[in-house]
Amino acid sequence: MLGLEGILNKIFGSDLNPLYYLGALGFYFFWVIAVSGAYIYAFYKTGIELSYPSVEYITHEQWYLGGIMRSLHRYASDALVLVMVLHLLREYILGRYHGARWFAWVTGVLLIWLIFAAGINGYWMVWDKLAQYATVTTVEWFDWLPIFSEPMSRSFLTQDVLNDRFFSLISFAHVTVPLFILFLLWVHIMRISKPVVNPRRRLAAGMLLALFVLSLFVPALSQGPADMLIEPRNLNIDWFYLFIYPLLDIWTAGQVWAMVAGVSLLLTVMPWLPSRFRQIPVAEVHLQDCSGCRLCVADCPYEAVVMRPRSDGMHFTEEAVVVADRCVSCGICVGACPSSNPFRGEESYLSGIEMPSMTMSGLRNRLNADLARLVGDVKILLVGCDNAADVARLRSASVAVLRLPCTAMLPPSFIEYALHEHHVDGVMISGCRENDCYHRLGVLWTEQRLTAKREPRLRSRAERRRIRKFWAASPDFKKLESELESFCASLKQGEVVEK
Ligand code: HEM
Ligand code: SF4
Ligand code: SF4
Repeated sequence: MLGLEGILNKIFGSDLNPLYYLGALGFYFFWVIAVSGAYIYAFYKTGIELSYPSVEYITHEQWYLGGIMRSLHRYASDALVLVMVLHLLREYILGRYHGARWFAWVTGVLLIWLIFAAGINGYWMVWDKLAQYATVTTVEWFDWLPIFSEPMSRSFLTQDVLNDRFFSLISFAHVTVPLFILFLLWVHIMRISKPVVNPRRRLAAGMLLALFVLSLFVPALSQGPADMLIEPRNLNIDWFYLFIYPLLDIWTAGQVWAMVAGVSLLLTVMPWLPSRFRQIPVAEVHLQDCSGCRLCVADCPYEAVVMRPRSDGMHFTEEAVVVADRCVSCGICVGACPSSNPFRGEESYLSGIEMPSMTMSGLRNRLNADLARLVGDVKILLVGCDNAADVARLRSASVAVLRLPCTAMLPPSFIEYALHEHHVDGVMISGCRENDCYHRLGVLWTEQRLTAKREPRLRSRAERRRIRKFWAASPDFKKLESELESFCASLKQGEVVEK
């Protein structure tokens, strides 16, 4: 996955890499579907004799607008399935589905069901041969379930029995199911702070242009009017939505139900199955060191820190509280807390918010020990994270290494501490690739803290030429290594010039 993303980064640049915006593209295609659907709906006529001719009118008489809108509606719906499946695969492959992320994952599984329901329902609305095939097959499939006293398929045997009420029902469903989807999309990202729901403008424009060109050259067409007396044959299937139907031709309804239920169940329980991704214990607040400044609330990517009125009688108005089942243990809040400052005198100090398995004083002790052993002309502190290129492999006689759950766990004061208390020559900061932080906002917050655009800021006394950033995923390890060499060389050259 990271290799593929690297290739796309080379082609599009990380700002326009579609794989970094799959969720946002999902939202975008949803809006394209909503706008094009609203247009078609204005001309669509509900009724057994009316639906097909009205869709034909939109497609042929009004091809320049109605026809394009119909095609945009269809291709944006296909694109929605494509980005949804890629998004699911990406979150799974990169391990962003377990722990507190179960909420986004499980609501995502519900979204799959609703999106397929809306798409298949859309195909029925046309009432052409494909709609006839999809409707009858669905009804036969549902008849397998022991929920209806009389088989539903009886209502579809002849054109006479099929009534306009059925069309009113499906056109009502085609508006209400997408409203549910919208509601569920909102729930899906509810526990995410600053979710990216809009792709970059150029990416959105490129996608719309692609859909438009496709609509112009390969317009969406109906496949002849439905006739309940003739079984439809030689149909063109939309494989994005209707792949289940050919399966129903070769398997029994029970087997297809077993497959659908099995896949849904497996996907739903995925966050709780054993995996290679381990999570350290969640963040903890230490009230005696919390001033209620809210910096941790502002930086937590998962809305896992909230404020409540002070409970310990101290003169501050609020205190921070961690909502444990939302916390992914990234440590970004620790990097935001002003009391994480390593210049504090206490031997064993506490930050207002701490990762219990990696306390700030423990980190300072480790850092002190690692920096104290450094020898050589140019001494470096290299900081990185658990989810990107492995910085630990670059530890050497002249390079000390700090590997954190997320680079943004490092308070900027640690950089000053290494430069001024330990006289290292340079600090190199690494972590996930830009726009692809495993913990969503770590790279962005680190950039903003280092450029003094965000609290806690790196103070101006930290010489910028002694600090270098290089964002690198695991396939970029060699690049990180050579960047470190070039940083050392430039520092060495700088010392010579200064002398
Ligand atoms: C078309 C439907 C979907 C849309 C539009 C959508 C959209 C989004 C968006 C915008 C985000 C926030 C991204 C960010 O800012 O970091 C997100 C996160 C997420 N989505 Fe979806 N999603 C969809 C379906 C799914 C499905 C089917 C799954 C998996 C079953 C899924 C799993 C997740 C997970 C696990 C996250 C959280 C990632 C994290 O915590 O880092 N989504 N989704
Ligand atoms: S470790 Fe801190 S920043 Fe990360 S999710 Fe938990 S509370 Fe939020
Ligand atoms: S950043 Fe630290 S001091 Fe500020 S509210 Fe959070 S825990 Fe308290």
